[in-house]
Amino acid sequence: MAKDFVKIFDTTLRDGEQVPGCKLNTSQKLVIAKRLDDLGVDVIEAGFPVSSPGDFKSVVEISKIIKNASVCGLSRAVKNDIKVAAEALEYAKNPRIHTGIGTSDSHIKHKFKSSRDKIIEIGFEAVKYAKTFVNDVEFYAEDAGRTDNDFLAKVCEKMIEAGATVLNIPDTTGYCLPEEYGQKIKYLVDNVKNIEKATISCHCHNDLGLATANSIAGIINGARQIECTINGIGERAGNTSLEEVVMIMRQHPALNLDTNINSKLLFDTSNLVSDGMGMPVQPNKAIVGANAFAHSSGIHQDGVIKNRETYEIINPLDVGVNESAIILTARSGRAALAYRAKKIGFNLSKDELDLVYPEFLKFADVNKEVTDENIPEIIKKSI
Ligand code: KIV
Ligand code: ZN
Repeated sequence: MAKDFVKIFDTTLRDGEQVPGCKLNTSQKLVIAKRLDDLGVDVIEAGFPVSSPGDFKSVVEISKIIKNASVCGLSRAVKNDIKVAAEALEYAKNPRIHTGIGTSDSHIKHKFKSSRDKIIEIGFEAVKYAKTFVNDVEFYAEDAGRTDNDFLAKVCEKMIEAGATVLNIPDTTGYCLPEEYGQKIKYLVDNVKNIEKATISCHCHNDLGLATANSIAGIINGARQIECTINGIGERAGNTSLEEVVMIMRQHPALNLDTNINSKLLFDTSNLVSDGMGMPVQPNKAIVGANAFAHSSGIHQDGVIKNRETYEIINPLDVGVNESAIILTARSGRAALAYRAKKIGFNLSKDELDLVYPEFLKFADVNKEVTDENIPEIIKKSI
């Protein structure tokens, strides 16, 4: 059966860029946007044009250079925001306006001091107005994660009536459990009468470390777009990590879902964003962390040296990492020491290894990690 494609909506330059202390200038944003286009994302959310002249300029310049992806600008459900977003997108080949409003009772009561009916009315007018500028209008129901499903279904139906092409169901506060978020998407698929006219999008935050799991639950239940960022950067604990959702679909053929992403560019893109934003990637980050393909315990190293697949479910080459790393520490076994020594030209026999290994352990206990430079010294001392 042919695979279904899930669109990747990258918001590194909008939700990702909202990270405190992490401002990018326009030229840095252009480099990242160009790379996202090469990576194969379907939509680049380039910024929030009304928020500042700098953001407006970035969306204009990104719109001019992007060849394949749609370029999207965020707005509130406010006429001037939408007009400014449309102006910023003037040069985009495929422009998308992303407008919306909070739909949870908490947002309606505390943020807007309004009512459910009024919120639907404001959203409806916003989508209609955005449609006067562009054909592709995405509506976000902010805090959909905590919005009553029945009301959310009504909101969605009305926004499709107004012309929305995509319905974004954000778990803005990262509150939902995967089962709950998946059921929310299923509820919309089953209860919104005109749902076939729009794509459902997952936009999950990581406050409980569940953004990736929630997005996957969303696509399993019928969503066909995921909103995510490189390295999972974003407000507070971040957004869904692009590299994680892409590789989950690749590594699980039974899902029968795929994306247009060229996964071989993932590692390099992660570095580009991390360097540009001055936001180091945690070493144990899935897919792109420095330790994602590094093995340091003796049992694992022995397995990986015999066959990589014993302890790796992803071929590092598939995500642009040249090779798996065998790290030498006091937890390493003889197989790892022999392997690393051979790589730098020392073919140790079994007897030689018996002599070198105790010396290696002594050195490793004191120095923690043993490098290629240390190996010849250790060998010289023991044989
Ligand atoms: O998290 C969120 O709800 C958002 C919306 C503005 C789309 O980022
Ligand atoms: Zn968000």
